[in-house]
Amino acid sequence: MAVAAVTALALTASPVFARGPMPDPAVKDFQRVVDAAYAKYKDLRQGKNADYIPILTETPSDLFGVVIVGRDGRVYSAGDVDYVFSIQSVSKPFTAALVMTQQSPQVLKEKIGVEPTGLPFNSKLALEIYEAKSVNPMVNAGAIAAVSLVQATSEEDRWNKVLQNLSDFAARPLTVLEKVYDSEYTTAFGNRGIANLLYNSGRLYSEPEEALRVYTRECSVGVSARDLGIMGATLANGGVNPVTKKQVMPAKNVPELLAIMATAGFYDESGDWMFTAGLPAKTGVGGGIVAVVPGRFAIAAFSPRLNEAGNSVRSLNAIRDIAGQLGVGVYGANPD
Ligand code: DON
Repeated sequence: MAVAAVTALALTASPVFARGPMPDPAVKDFQRVVDAAYAKYKDLRQGKNADYIPILTETPSDLFGVVIVGRDGRVYSAGDVDYVFSIQSVSKPFTAALVMTQQSPQVLKEKIGVEPTGLPFNSKLALEIYEAKSVNPMVNAGAIAAVSLVQATSEEDRWNKVLQNLSDFAARPLTVLEKVYDSEYTTAFGNRGIANLLYNSGRLYSEPEEALRVYTRECSVGVSARDLGIMGATLANGGVNPVTKKQVMPAKNVPELLAIMATAGFYDESGDWMFTAGLPAKTGVGGGIVAVVPGRFAIAAFSPRLNEAGNSVRSLNAIRDIAGQLGVGVYGANPD
């Protein structure tokens, strides 16, 4: 590598800690592909902010940030990677991880399910089709069931455990964006319907309004693209947070979690996503997406404009582009 390139890398990569695992072999390209994806998609204006949660229309639509976080905790970034937005559905795999940690992957499978629905994230039809399960913890029904499965002594305890777990993945104390919570909870008629349907058929494990409140609060937690990158890097690093070194979830449960993200992380676009990007990932209507290259690193992005399936247009393009450039799709390189 030329001296100038080494210097540029040294200036742009921010080491979070000095010692750790060996850098990934692709590391020399990280800053280059992050910069290139940012430049390529920054003028893309397709899609629109989520509006069924009224306050999300107020997020400036042009924000865009892209980040890679390595297993060594190094961060390679471009754009608005420190802007704090609501995590929304990107919280779902991390709470599923908590259920697996407290109980087991088998409990998750038996009491929620792991089948992709091929239907939108807020589908009620899926609950009719899959009568025995709430389907999978990436869609709203399964995620509401997941918070209800968290072992807790009270609603406050349930919430504290969910928030502490998300904070452990992010390596900093996260907080709720209260205006987002108010905006979503006062309009959560669909999710309340889902919670009640689940409860009515014995597929919810706490009182429904409690599950709805805790679920809505977890979706309202504020994160940056950098935070999502660190959360994903924790999954890439066998459940050990690369910044704090805390074992946030058992390494043995990571493959099962990544499998659910791969099959359902993009909802009814999961097939297209795996076909074109080949990485387990999770999206949120706040505009965030995190993808995991198992055992290696995470790629995260944030931009508020969404496509019809509720997935951020710039974020998914940037992450897919980086995965293709680095040739890291789990089934082999997807260079096209
Ligand atoms: O429950 C909801 O509708 C939101 N709190 C989360 C949905 C979401 O993020 C879907 N993701 N793309």
